[in-house]
Amino acid sequence: MEGKGFTEEQEALVVKSWNEMKRNSQELGLKFFKKILEIAPAAQQLFSFLKDSTVPLGENPKLKPHAMAVFVMTCESAVQLRKAGKVTVRESNLKRLGATHFKAGVTAEHFEVTKLALLETIKEAVPEMWSPAMKNAWEEAHDQLAEAIKSEMKPSD
Ligand code: HEM
Repeated sequence: MEGKGFTEEQEALVVKSWNEMKRNSQELGLKFFKKILEIAPAAQQLFSFLKDSTVPLGENPKLKPHAMAVFVMTCESAVQLRKAGKVTVRESNLKRLGATHFKAGVTAEHFEVTKLALLETIKEAVPEMWSPAMKNAWEEAHDQLAEAIKSEMKPSD
């Protein structure tokens, strides 16, 4: 899919909800992560900083950066889709992302889980803005980004 027809309106739906949500990013990040682990408890083992961790999830300082990366990059991908009709993450970044996730043992199923968690988290964070159109815009931006990362998920040379 080439992301044809990602409109200004869709971009605006993603950007405006993100601008609202990011004011509470600590709680948002934790909620998002908890949802991922609710759906797929075993995913905890993928994260080096969680595997042998004895601190409660909410106190793990490394949790927020990954959560924020997913939100921020999905939001950026919405902007790119509207501007260029496709995700335009820098080649070297995409290669690194592909390699990191490949090495960590992340699968296509994990991306589905993460997407569900992402959409649920947004719905609960901005209930007054939430709509089918907003869901659709975030989903499209996520899917295109996930496809780009997955296409680089192979052993690094
Ligand atoms: C690492 C972004 C999906 C698990 C990272 C990093 C970024 C990132 C920026 C830091 C390392 C690097 O830059 O190479 C994203 C984005 C995603 C996504 C934008 C989806 C759109 C997932 C999914 C999983 C996952 C679905 C599995 C449930 C991990 C793990 C690491 C990682 C295990 C390594 C962390 C560590 O052990 O230190 N991701 N990620 N990611 N990601 Fe993701």
